[in-house]
Amino acid sequence: MTKRVRKAVLPVAGLGTRVLPGAKTTPKNLLNVVDRPILSYIVEEARAAGIEHLVFIVGRGQGAIEDYFDANPEVEGALEAKGKADILAEVRRDIGPPGEMSFVRQMAPLGLGHAVWCARHVVGDEPFAVILPDMLMAAEPPALAQAVAAYEKVGGNIVVVEPAPEGEAHKYGIVALEKAAGRLNRMTGMVEKPAPGTEPSNLFISGRYILQPEIFEVLETQERGAGGEIQLTDGMAALMKRQDFHALEYDGTTFDCGDKIGLLRANIAFALRRPELAAPARRMIEDLLRA
Ligand code: UTP
Repeated sequence: MTKRVRKAVLPVAGLGTRVLPGAKTTPKNLLNVVDRPILSYIVEEARAAGIEHLVFIVGRGQGAIEDYFDANPEVEGALEAKGKADILAEVRRDIGPPGEMSFVRQMAPLGLGHAVWCARHVVGDEPFAVILPDMLMAAEPPALAQAVAAYEKVGGNIVVVEPAPEGEAHKYGIVALEKAAGRLNRMTGMVEKPAPGTEPSNLFISGRYILQPEIFEVLETQERGAGGEIQLTDGMAALMKRQDFHALEYDGTTFDCGDKIGLLRANIAFALRRPELAAPARRMIEDLLRA
């Protein structure tokens, strides 16, 4: 019997260098995709996978994230008074039950491994999910639900992967598989940003994980790795010496919203998926291309 995955860690304390200066005063995961912050989609995905508690790893100046997921009596009262029930429902859709969220300060952005380690006291001794909130995934069932289903089948640790664009595998955390058959395969290794030509596969770790709590012991003494950062990939590679890891090639489309073009692509793709926006969005794109 595997223990149920109830908690998810969402590290948002990075500097967001690739989307500065916007990310200087607005946490990058609160930037909009169409009319909702990226985090709205991410939290919806977590809840759809049965997650009951969300642990945000935050940095200085990110208090707006807490405020976004809290009630706002002034805005809600004004919408109520004006009878704007549809906008009111949209404003309230992301607000969960009291106590659903914890916010932990990382204090210095030392790397993703360090950010995850900061969640140790809140997660405790149970398996948990990690969601990289700048990787927006459009999938049905949602990406984390696919990872949880894989975990319920094989247990241990699950890493969601997908093929890297041609010639770009060296930019990512890449997995090595025992054999590549079907979408769920036992892993034999992983490496963060392998030197070009040495990649063990073209499958990169794309931002959803199910991890066992022993990862915290490993991260406790984790040395700095690629880019001088404490890398989660290095921690997982060390844990793999004593625990099973499976890679799940999930079924869906990923948008890297931490990158200018990725964020633009997500805005266009999500607008085209909205029944009331699809036609005007298409006309706008065609006009721009003709200009
Ligand atoms: P990224 O490296 O993609 O995000 O980390 P970043 O550091 O914000 O962006 P750039 O590279 O400077 O443009 C993946 C996720 O891990 C979080 C980030 O906030 C992002 O959501 N992270 C990263 C932390 O929470 N703490 C860290 O020390 C590093």
